[in-house]
Amino acid sequence: METKKKGGFTNSIGFVLAAAGSAVGVGNIWRFPYLAARDGGGLFLLVYLVLVLTFGSALLTTDIALGRRTGKNAWHAFGSIKPKWSFLGKLTFLVPVIIMTYYSVIGGWILKYSTVYLTGRHHQAAQDDFFTSFITSPVSPIVFMLIFLALTALVVYMGVEKGIEKFSRYVMPSLLILIIGIAIYALTLKHTDASGVTRTGLEGLKIYLIPDFKDLTFGRFLNVLLDAMSQLFFSLSVSMGIMITYGSYVKKDVDLNRSISQVEFFDTGVAFLSGMMIIPAIYVFAGTEGMTSGPSLMFVSLPKVFNSMGTAGILVGIAFFVMILFAALTSCVSILETLVATCMELFHATRKKVSCVIGLLSAAASVVICLGYNLFYFECPMPAGGKGQLLDLADYVSNSLLMPVICLLTAVFIGWVIKPSWIAEEMRVGSNGFAKEKIYSAMVRYVVPAVMVILFLQSTGLLGRLIG
Ligand code: PFF
Repeated sequence: METKKKGGFTNSIGFVLAAAGSAVGVGNIWRFPYLAARDGGGLFLLVYLVLVLTFGSALLTTDIALGRRTGKNAWHAFGSIKPKWSFLGKLTFLVPVIIMTYYSVIGGWILKYSTVYLTGRHHQAAQDDFFTSFITSPVSPIVFMLIFLALTALVVYMGVEKGIEKFSRYVMPSLLILIIGIAIYALTLKHTDASGVTRTGLEGLKIYLIPDFKDLTFGRFLNVLLDAMSQLFFSLSVSMGIMITYGSYVKKDVDLNRSISQVEFFDTGVAFLSGMMIIPAIYVFAGTEGMTSGPSLMFVSLPKVFNSMGTAGILVGIAFFVMILFAALTSCVSILETLVATCMELFHATRKKVSCVIGLLSAAASVVICLGYNLFYFECPMPAGGKGQLLDLADYVSNSLLMPVICLLTAVFIGWVIKPSWIAEEMRVGSNGFAKEKIYSAMVRYVVPAVMVILFLQSTGLLGRLIG
């Protein structure tokens, strides 16, 4: 049987930790906190939580049940149900192909910062131009990317059970311990700045948790909603074929209802704790203005915060970057696994051979992305504002253009072509029932398609023009 040839997760915990490993990544630790800070703290949290339980749950259920029921990767899964829809499998496969080219580049940056902190050079990392001069240098980002990629490929090369599952079993609990430790430490922080103002971690926590309804208009609420929606999408690793692949490795006696809730809980829990460690820390050392730093938060603002903490900052810095390195590795493993598993099926080749070939091809593509900051540098205006380089462009095509389209088509396929009952039947296998069937059905038939159209219009900048 197909599934047997590919290997599989030993049990439900193995699956939950591996799927959580894919879901918990840079998005949780870096993107979630800065969006929460920007979008009114508690208001964003509330909206996000409601979305996870409804929308997120429906998307995750679709992917995982589709994978388990067909026992196939995205490439073949759709076509095996309705041959006319095989194009959707191929389109879905494009997403991990594109993400793979730049995720290992970011992984390389994180590896670089981990080594900087581990070798006691934290002052260097806090300098203004450290990040820019590193990513624009010709050799160093490539070397770190290659090491990160080699680690990822090694885990995939070892296989589903001995590689991915075993790795996630060690790494995910360690990640959880590190994040809880840093979050508690962040709440005990206290600092008086040059103007004599003292700020505490607990005050920062209040900013994070208490909803800010000031100047809340419909337009602003819509922005919060869209931010939360796109974050959820990326954070759960849905609509990119990854959870379909992982779903195909799950045994029939696993209760998918429970496992899916656990993955959601893990992913949201880590995102929540990341906010609890980052927002108070930034608030204490940089005030409310520091929290608006956006994407540069992780590589530019946080090293400055660690530096202001004195000696403790070295330890916290090490813990932070090692933790995010773990998170990035397990996510990158899931992307590479999807590529490798699909190519194994397509070319009837062994895991070892395919891992090496895909690893080398990914390395070549990632070198090009690294060179996007020097040799191939250009500035491309992005629809959401600002100018982007190769990496931003790849990220935009995969996450903002392809993912909403794939998610929309998948929802139409499940909701209207094969009908939600097809998924519900699979959800009942190995469990007592599928309590969320009604809400799942409404989500996949009506809410997901509508929201995807809105998200797509927003990412292409058309929504702004339509609303005026
Ligand atoms: N879900 C991961 C995160 O939140 O960082 C990101 C991710 C993982 C994106 C795997 C894409 C992917 F294929």
